[in-house]
Amino acid sequence: MSQIKPKTTRKRLSFMSTVLITGASKGIGRSCATLLHDRGHEVIGLARNPANGEFPGEFHCVDLLDRKALDSILKTLCASKPITGLVNNAGIVGAQPLSEINLETMDEVFQVNLGAATQCAQHCSSTMKQQGVGSIVNISSELVLGLPNRTAYTSSKAALISATRTWALELSRNNITVNAIAPGPVNTEFFTRNNPPGSSERKRKIDRIPMGRFAEPADIAKTVAFFLSEDARYITGQTLFVDGGSSLASSALF
Ligand SMILES: NC(=O)c1ccc[n+]([C@@H]2O[C@H](COP(=O)([O-])OP(=O)(O)OC[C@H]3O[C@@H](n4cnc5c(N)ncnc54)[C@H](OP(=O)(O)O)[C@@H]3O)[C@@H](O)[C@H]2O)c1
Repeated sequence: MSQIKPKTTRKRLSFMSTVLITGASKGIGRSCATLLHDRGHEVIGLARNPANGEFPGEFHCVDLLDRKALDSILKTLCASKPITGLVNNAGIVGAQPLSEINLETMDEVFQVNLGAATQCAQHCSSTMKQQGVGSIVNISSELVLGLPNRTAYTSSKAALISATRTWALELSRNNITVNAIAPGPVNTEFFTRNNPPGSSERKRKIDRIPMGRFAEPADIAKTVAFFLSEDARYITGQTLFVDGGSSLASSALF
């Protein structure tokens, strides 16, 4: 019996791809670096400060607030590395109530959470296009559903979801997928800093998670690894809430 062959053979996402991760020194980014390295990816990490201990790949210090410095390092990396995976993970909060919003702080939050992600996507997607394959994962937040005192954070993370959909549309013909993850509370320095142990806010949050615990960074890293994998090759423009079910009760978040 003769087999019908597809007219074109498209390259598939490689499990051995090179992945750039922002905010890779700790928390979710570091967990992604470890997991992706263990699964055979070559990992390149970015953050302001060196990672504690041995980083499982190449690591560069850069401040994402410095657009020129970021452009320069991205240019160098994309010229020398076959990057086919990008994890836009770095994020800052800049908590302020509406009445006290300082627009400079808001600009900084938007630069780290959206501007730098856009710069990384611009450079990396150009390399991905040359290779005919790629996957971008943007780390947004469940808090796009809203939280008091988080105007800059929630709106920048919501914008990242809109950017995810738009980039997915622009890049799909190049065999590049773009997806977002919206984590609920994750047990990292970032979360602990904003929700100190013993605080009423922390208790309220855990009480409202149907699965009864905060996520561990590895819970998010495993979802990132899925979006970067062959198994997710036909998924693009999507946002996956990885939150133990807490967004199901979003109106009761605060
Ligand atoms: N933890 C949560 O509960 C939670 C929930 C939902 C979404 N998220 C999102 O998940 C992402 C990671 O969060 P996390 O909890 O892992 O945070 P984290 O532990 O605070 O780590 C943040 C990472 O970003 C880097 N970073 C921060 N500002 C930077 C800058 N200006 N330039 C370069 N790197 C910078 C940090 O390194 P340096 O300080 O050395 O620069 C670090 O590597 C963020 O986008 C956050 O919004 C987190």
